[in-house]
Amino acid sequence: MPATFDNPYRPAPGSLPPELAGRDAEISAAHYASGLTRTGGAAQPILFTGLRGMGKTALLRRSVSAAEEIGAVVLYSEASKETSLTAALKRSIEHAKTQYAAIPTKIKKAFDAAIRALPTATYELPGDAGGITLEPRRAEAHEGFVEALETLNAEVRRHDRFLLLAIDEIQDGAVNDLRVLVRFVHLTAGTAAPVLLLGAGLPNTPAHLHAVRTYTERWRYSRIGLLERNDTIRAIANPAIARGVTFETAALERLVDETAGYPFFIQEYASGAWSEHRGKRVTLGDVDAIAPGVRKLLELSFYDERFRRLTPRELRYALGMADLGAGSHTVGAIAAHLGVNSEDISSTRGQLVKKDVIFVPAAGLVEFRMPLTDRYIARHRPELQRRAK
Ligand SMILES: Nc1ncnc2c1ncn2[C@@H]1O[C@H](COP(=O)(O)OP(=O)(O)OP(=O)(O)O)[C@@H](O)[C@H]1O
Ligand SMILES: [Mg+2]
Repeated sequence: MPATFDNPYRPAPGSLPPELAGRDAEISAAHYASGLTRTGGAAQPILFTGLRGMGKTALLRRSVSAAEEIGAVVLYSEASKETSLTAALKRSIEHAKTQYAAIPTKIKKAFDAAIRALPTATYELPGDAGGITLEPRRAEAHEGFVEALETLNAEVRRHDRFLLLAIDEIQDGAVNDLRVLVRFVHLTAGTAAPVLLLGAGLPNTPAHLHAVRTYTERWRYSRIGLLERNDTIRAIANPAIARGVTFETAALERLVDETAGYPFFIQEYASGAWSEHRGKRVTLGDVDAIAPGVRKLLELSFYDERFRRLTPRELRYALGMADLGAGSHTVGAIAAHLGVNSEDISSTRGQLVKKDVIFVPAAGLVEFRMPLTDRYIARHRPELQRRAK
């Protein structure tokens, strides 16, 4: 029987990989911030940014569990465009209350008070296309909430613990909500009971948070990218070694090539190769057998759908951008490369943003939304060029 349930790799989004490779610097920075906060020193909030599937959530989760080991009480939430951050926080407080079974009753009571103080549910009008949200007494509700958080924080400190707010997908948080929360964190920085804030978000997060700028300019932004060759090898080989299985060197080489160090691809390919192998070795033959299928599936879900929707003009823009290489490029450099004026192609650029192919990481810059888009374009250039005519 194939060892299906024995597969150590974790291709699901948000899942902790068996080997969190290449992120030691980020893990230590977060660990240092936690340690400092624990001893009463205020640490700068840290925000991990990166493209989709780069491992932000994994890093945030790892940092959070390391903090829990040294006494953090964690409120973990995920911001979204559909629900308010306070609603997400309410859930995180409810969750924390049940999770920390061993915490003293007094902290539990403070949890309850915080839950009660949160703004009551927001009302979505049913069947309404515009999505109007009614939030009665918003400002006052926020005030009560901050007070409740303060009480919770004081209680947590009295028991020799500290409070950590972790927010994933922070680029989707409503600026008003973030302002309240961030203000609370900053106010505690001047006291003996500082609260630590760790976050994760897409690379446009700093721009999104610009509106909260009085409080966010001294945040520490840490952008994470593709893994280096050695870390890619560690990420693939070590989980297998832990199960007594080794990858042939040629198999690893091929995987380094195929995945280009992109964490999400690493898990997909390694998982595929694992399912294919028999015995104690993963061979080049195993990798060769699964690679075309995995590549096809990934290209379909990551790029094909997006590129199919582009007009010839939009395709020309994307092709030109890919010529300039990976990373972000100025709007002017792309226009110059295409031999046109920036203004003449601004609507094309707008369409590409709308179609989720590119995004604006900061004013005047654009970047491909999905990692390795330039490589996808290089692989399919003839066909894309034909369609761009
Ligand atoms: N350092 C790493 N080494 C190996 N695999 C990793 C690493 N970090 C994350 N992964 C794996 O990569 C995949 C994507 O990770 P994760 O969901 O954390 O990314 P993300 O940046 O949060 O993506 P999204 O923007 O879609 O939320 C997961 O399968 C995860 O297990
Ligand atoms: Mg994530």
